[in-house]
Amino acid sequence: MKFFVDTADIDAIAELNDLGMVDGVTTNPSLILKSGRDIMEVTKEICELVSGPVSAEVIALEAEDMIAEGRKLAEIAPNIAVKVPLTWAGLKACKTLSDEGNMVNVTLCFSANQALLAAKAGATFISPFIGRLDDLNIDGLDLIADIRTIYDNYGFETQILAASIRTANHMSECAKIGADVATAPPAVIKAMANHMLTDKGLDQFVKDAAQAGIKIL
Ligand code: G3P
Repeated sequence: MKFFVDTADIDAIAELNDLGMVDGVTTNPSLILKSGRDIMEVTKEICELVSGPVSAEVIALEAEDMIAEGRKLAEIAPNIAVKVPLTWAGLKACKTLSDEGNMVNVTLCFSANQALLAAKAGATFISPFIGRLDDLNIDGLDLIADIRTIYDNYGFETQILAASIRTANHMSECAKIGADVATAPPAVIKAMANHMLTDKGLDQFVKDAAQAGIKIL
């Protein structure tokens, strides 16, 4: 499973990238707001740092405007994936932008039918939002599994990019289901390293090493 980082925080991306944990980056208007940076400027910086796909989202609501914005975003760097919302207008923009050779990430997906339409419209990535479904007491992971089944049934090449990931558990569950990509905030990726038995075991090793007088360097 590829890891994308869901942030526009350059320092956080750089830290994970140095560890080989970053196969791509996803941003959205809320994350750009949080960064306090200009969208074109920060997106360019991310694209210079990371060689994989970097999603940058349009803000227009009409297809023609989304297409124009998508073309402009795609000029930033060759690794831009234009992000469009899963509306009828967004699907039109997806079709045109992918026919022109751009990577397109269709976002705000909350149903298997929406994912089916995005694949038909030539999306490179479909972004089903797990956490926001969980918030409504609907199991977001079931949606990932349903889309996996549907895409495999028909050999759709659109990659499932599990999004709105809130917990480390979401990451392993997505990997078990077979999501192609999971995008998560840096804190969630870091939390994947945590286990209380690791901490407990290490504590004992530190104590025993001191008692044994072990010195390596
Ligand atoms: O990738 C989409 C993500 O940014 C949304 O996450 O936690 O706001 O639902 P969240």
